[in-house]
Amino acid sequence: MCVNIRAESYDTELIIMSCSIQQELPPLSEYYRNYFNIGTAVPLRTIITENPEKELVKKHFNIITAENCTKMESVYPAEDCIDFTAADRFLEFGKENGKKMRWHTLVWHNQSPEWIFLENGKKASAQTLEKRLRKYIQTVADHCRGQIYSYDVVNEVISDKTFRLRDISDRSLWYDILGEEYIGKAFFWTKEAAPDAQLVINDYNLEIIPQKREAMLNLVRNLRRKNVPVSAVGLQMHINTGIPVESIETAINAFGSQGIQTVVTEMDVSVYSGNDEKRKDYTAEVLDRQADYYRQLFECFRRCSERGFLSDVIFWGTTDSSSWKNNFPVPGRTDIPLLFSGDGKAKPAFYSITGIR
Ligand code: GLA
Repeated sequence: MCVNIRAESYDTELIIMSCSIQQELPPLSEYYRNYFNIGTAVPLRTIITENPEKELVKKHFNIITAENCTKMESVYPAEDCIDFTAADRFLEFGKENGKKMRWHTLVWHNQSPEWIFLENGKKASAQTLEKRLRKYIQTVADHCRGQIYSYDVVNEVISDKTFRLRDISDRSLWYDILGEEYIGKAFFWTKEAAPDAQLVINDYNLEIIPQKREAMLNLVRNLRRKNVPVSAVGLQMHINTGIPVESIETAINAFGSQGIQTVVTEMDVSVYSGNDEKRKDYTAEVLDRQADYYRQLFECFRRCSERGFLSDVIFWGTTDSSSWKNNFPVPGRTDIPLLFSGDGKAKPAFYSITGIR
């Protein structure tokens, strides 16, 4: 019997809403069904309790990502323990409600269990770490066989300081111990048990920092030259209303024109463009500006989908009150980056991307 300290302790807080959701609205994913899937990241407690946020998830989104409980520290808390208790709740919820499931994420320098990098109290050898990683990936992919639409196989492997592979100076013990080979191997191991799943290399700021995007393009080209089965680049897309939509289209086109599909994996649109910006009142003007930004963004996504470059758009959260952007990156500052407000009501941004009045 293994003891599991769960990564759900990172889950954003669910504000229990006493309201009911707007049944009259058409489902968002239906609205875009000819273009791309639309998903959301969900904390475990949203699906295991009855609450309006769960109803919003069921109604509007056709892909689900677990906010934390499919991260390695949650699933692999000890060498002899790979624990699917929480992950299985998501799989069941997905099955019951006809949702596609994303597994986020198999390998990441964050939220990995500390023990995995240790052996007899010292840094683990490459051989040991590789064996553990291989066992983990194969066990997950085998357990979830046929149930996962998309895996984020590796997350955030490029440094935005050096634009090279993230190494120990950027806290990657994976690279430190295994060198760059672990990336390709992780894809091959996933592919063996999940031959039909979309296999994604996921990262942030690719739409904002051209050098980082170039580094990702080169990395994917090199991996593909070695026949590594990378299906798509994941653009996390934690953005704000100050980022030009053109730069997002440029990024998607840069990958698409080289035959590399993109998926938007963790989107939110902050109304703050910098950490030094003070908390603002969320006036009608602020909401309308955000709505206008979302409208342009979804027009861009439609064009990218028509070119065959974009297949999925996933939000990082459902309602503003449970977004990770509250108190982050600025403690004490809230944010309103999503389509639904804390009381579960559709915001102007929802109406602007559906054209509903
Ligand atoms: C990153 C990770 C996600 C999540 C978000 C913020 O983008 O990939 O798993 O932790 O940060 O919560």
